[in-house]
Amino acid sequence: MCGIVGYIGGKRAVDFLLDGLTKLEYRGYDSAGIAANCGENIFIEKSVGRLDSLKEKLKNRLPAGTVGIGHTRWATHGRPSDLNAHPHTDCHGNFVVVHNGIIENYMPLKEELIARGHKFISETDTEVVAHLLEEVYTGDFVGAVREVLNKIEGSYSLVFMSKMHPDVLLCAKQENPLVVGLGKGENFIASDIPAIIAHTRDTFILNDGEIAIVKKDSVQILNRQGGLVDKKIFHVSWNAEAAEKGGYEHFMLKEINEQPKAVRDTMSKRIAKDGASIILDELNWDKNFLNSINKIYIVACGTAYHAGLVGKFYIEKLVRKLVEVDLASEYRYRDPIVDDKTLVIVISQSGETLDTLAALKESKRLGAKTLAITNVVGSSMAREAENVIHTWAGPEIAVASTKAYTTQLILMFMLALYMAQVAETISGDEIKRLISLLKKIPAQISETLSDVEPIKTFARQYGFNEDVFYIGRSLDYCVALEGALKLKEISYIHAEAYASGELKHGTLALIVEGVPVIALATQKSVYDKTLSNIKEVKARDAIVIGIAAANDIELEKYLDHVIFVPETDELLIPLLTVVPLQLLAYYAAITRGCDVDKPRNLAKSVTVE
Ligand code: M6R
Repeated sequence: MCGIVGYIGGKRAVDFLLDGLTKLEYRGYDSAGIAANCGENIFIEKSVGRLDSLKEKLKNRLPAGTVGIGHTRWATHGRPSDLNAHPHTDCHGNFVVVHNGIIENYMPLKEELIARGHKFISETDTEVVAHLLEEVYTGDFVGAVREVLNKIEGSYSLVFMSKMHPDVLLCAKQENPLVVGLGKGENFIASDIPAIIAHTRDTFILNDGEIAIVKKDSVQILNRQGGLVDKKIFHVSWNAEAAEKGGYEHFMLKEINEQPKAVRDTMSKRIAKDGASIILDELNWDKNFLNSINKIYIVACGTAYHAGLVGKFYIEKLVRKLVEVDLASEYRYRDPIVDDKTLVIVISQSGETLDTLAALKESKRLGAKTLAITNVVGSSMAREAENVIHTWAGPEIAVASTKAYTTQLILMFMLALYMAQVAETISGDEIKRLISLLKKIPAQISETLSDVEPIKTFARQYGFNEDVFYIGRSLDYCVALEGALKLKEISYIHAEAYASGELKHGTLALIVEGVPVIALATQKSVYDKTLSNIKEVKARDAIVIGIAAANDIELEKYLDHVIFVPETDELLIPLLTVVPLQLLAYYAAITRGCDVDKPRNLAKSVTVE
């Protein structure tokens, strides 16, 4: 996610802006920019790349203005570039805007504005906000901003600056964080507390729908209806390091908790307003194209590979096409049978993993059609693949992948639904039903996240065991693999996942009294078989923790502990069952005193073989 800063006071704004943006660097970004109100005009400078490139451009020409805004951008709409970097302006440079989030209806708004003569210079969704402001402004800055907010849909934190109103900064929040820092004769704005705590610890934390009118000596907060809000000051007691993590102890926990939003951001713009179809503007596939494809490979590494395994289920079930999932490090060296009738889908959070990138290049060389699913706009895979669909999870900092995985599952599901819609392999009613369930997932993840106490207790009880087994069938097995990987990589506990039906072919020999077994039992189509496998391990006195859908009264009869997740279709339930497994790994690692965010021997982006 992007970073926002703003300053209004008696000092040179750019000094705070650059310092504040530096404090937000940990969040990841691909370009940066600042704007300062210098009286006659608004000075703007932007640069793709690191903040140092922006600083280099500003060398010997730092603007003197005492009001300014700044931004670090994590690209979503449009590649990383100088032009796409924020701030953005209207046609005449009268209004300047920085934005975090996604304006979902920016395309129709942009088309209307272009038809009315507005000239756009960037590919971003944000630029429409500046042009809209220009359209509706008649002298009342606050009124115009309120009118613009009524026209845009989506998630945002926005800061507005105007040449005509040099004594004020306005900001608005909807689903993206925004704080106002209260100083003496100066005030600060930031998307995250680390940017301001060197200057003040007294803040107003904005709520959704609120607008702040920030002047050098005063701050007023308005609610959605325009009424004044009597806001309580929030005094920040965290140190700088805790502030970076938004008050969470680790980035991993923060990212686990960001999943409802990450999933909502990834899906929302891609569902038609009537909830009857999936819109994937990134792909222009028709029935002929899909009929011409006789084989699909999904290629990835680690957690992304586990997302691919789930993706195979989705495509095979909904589109009835054969899918092979392969580890990139194997695929690239085993002379895969690929030609121009093959579709190769690579999945990668970073878009830079060397093995996956090499597999993509090899697939292209062999003539395959290629699609990359990645979280990083402008990454090597995004540039290399013929088609790209982005997860909009925001930067993932912890080495252990969490929100990237859930957003990859969302996109794999939406891709399969889109293909089914194009190929007409399932009915319109079934598509509608699945979309309506899909829309509930963010709230259901939140519900799952709200019940952590039992998980903490299990982690404390079993965190010192040396072996843990995960079992499940069908999609439960795919999630079991991901749960075991999470536990291994951050707690260093030996964890193995097995397809439950395989136990009796060898692994059952390892199941003895006291061995913890995490048993996933959510797949209705194989429920009885799963139950038999659970009884098998229970009979050997294993300690079995079940993961089940709400209202599963059966499982509780056989197990001492069951963690319930909300009910949904069995295809979508991996998005929920993975959450307690992520938390279990996290709290087990805490119990063992491990370095959760930076586990030994591992790197976030694996750009070597
Ligand atoms: O950036 P990528 O998604 O291509 O990374 C792939 C794996 O390296 C990554 O998922 C790794 O397995 C994670 N540490 C798992 O949590």
